[in-house]
Amino acid sequence: MASLTVRKLDEDLKASLRLRAAKAGRSVEDEVRMILREATEGTVAAAVSPVRSTHQPHRSRAPEVKGLPRVTLIIGGGIAAYKALDLIRRLKERDIHVRCVMTRAAQQFVTPLTAGALADERCYTDLFDAQSEFDAGHIRLARDTDLIIVAPATADLMAKMAQGQADDLATAILLATNRQVLVAPAMNPLMWANAATKRNVAQLARDGVAFIGPNSGEMAEANEAGVGRMSEPTEIAIAADAMLRPPATGPLAGKKILITAGPTHEPIDPVRYIANRSSGKQGFAIAVSAAEAGAEVTLISGPVDLDDPAGVRVIRVESARDMLAEVERALPADIAIFAAAVADWRIANAGAQKIKKTSAGMPPLQLVENPDILATISKLKQNRPSLVIGFAAETQNLIENATSKLKRKGCDWIVANDVSPASGVMGGDRNTVHVLTLDKANVAVDSWPVMTKEEVADALVAKIADTTA
Ligand code: CTP
Repeated sequence: MASLTVRKLDEDLKASLRLRAAKAGRSVEDEVRMILREATEGTVAAAVSPVRSTHQPHRSRAPEVKGLPRVTLIIGGGIAAYKALDLIRRLKERDIHVRCVMTRAAQQFVTPLTAGALADERCYTDLFDAQSEFDAGHIRLARDTDLIIVAPATADLMAKMAQGQADDLATAILLATNRQVLVAPAMNPLMWANAATKRNVAQLARDGVAFIGPNSGEMAEANEAGVGRMSEPTEIAIAADAMLRPPATGPLAGKKILITAGPTHEPIDPVRYIANRSSGKQGFAIAVSAAEAGAEVTLISGPVDLDDPAGVRVIRVESARDMLAEVERALPADIAIFAAAVADWRIANAGAQKIKKTSAGMPPLQLVENPDILATISKLKQNRPSLVIGFAAETQNLIENATSKLKRKGCDWIVANDVSPASGVMGGDRNTVHVLTLDKANVAVDSWPVMTKEEVADALVAKIADTTA
């Protein structure tokens, strides 16, 4: 067995350990013991890092992926608990974040370590476990989720749920939640057919709990068959997915919309780039409105300081060429809206190393033209979205320049706006736009009053919905 002497550790690490131990009210030796125990259980709470980064929060939870629906999976104590392990994988395959809770009985069949390893996050087991209460707590486990699945749900667990008992972590979560609950019962056919179970199931259904299964088939017990087998993990995952992502409603339901937003950054060398003043706000606002109208939205954005809108698939890129590649990857789409302020040029030979000042004078920067994403997609022979909308950012001769841009680029509509410094549009919250639509060779101009970027987005989405209805 290896021996470890804290005194021989390097100074940074020792200082970190002392700080951690002090925060937890433990001796340094006890803190090391705790870290080792957590590490062997796969529940290590926070990496021991040098002092300068010990302000990081104490976490044992996997970082949540923004925008993914979250499930708390309560694993009950039955032979079908082994299928719950497969269910974790099936849910993750569907881009659903899973956090597991196990009853005491479940731990007789599968281990928290296995469930935790599959879910990428420690499995919670105890109501009075100091660490669970510290970093999640039963109230947070009950609420920081979009759906609770109970699989397998034993007759006993359902009886407790129906009565509102809360004597362990699983039942406390079920009592404390205000989220949807999906129950996958698994038990012997006689237990399922028992009047008491029927009463409990009826009560839970009245309380709004959803059920999947049980199925009929062979039981784990020899020579037993009937209704009581837990639904297959794939069936449960499909049911959960349908509850988490109900079919969209709204005027753009069923439509795939692709939107570009923000500036692009064109590298000069590893530390410098060419950019523009676009904030991305208009493109993000359109993505929000389109998602609210029921569309399936993919937003491809250059570097901006904006959060991912809810319900929108966001792809972040840097340069014009990256943006074009992602746009092409996101096709086919029904509608494409190009709101990005794409840099027209990039540096011909961006340096692999930082360009240094030398006595030879200033380095010449050779520019080459970037691909025009809007024109490329508008002129596609295959996979062209049926409605392609561009933006025209102009500082003079707005309608005239926008009209020639509409014709030159081959798109269907152009949203023209004045971006001269006096307009305050670049980076600002308001926008005054004119929507130019091309019908055969005729261009119609619809001029809107000054609006917030959100109002412009709503009006544009309403116009799209009218046109594509
Ligand atoms: N656009 C694009 N790819 C480029 C340049 C522009 O997709 N390389 C798109 C923009 O997203 C916008 C439209 O083309 O929808 C017009 O962009 P704008 O910057 O106004 O026009 P430019 O084509 O760059 O022309 P100019 O700078 O000469 O006005």
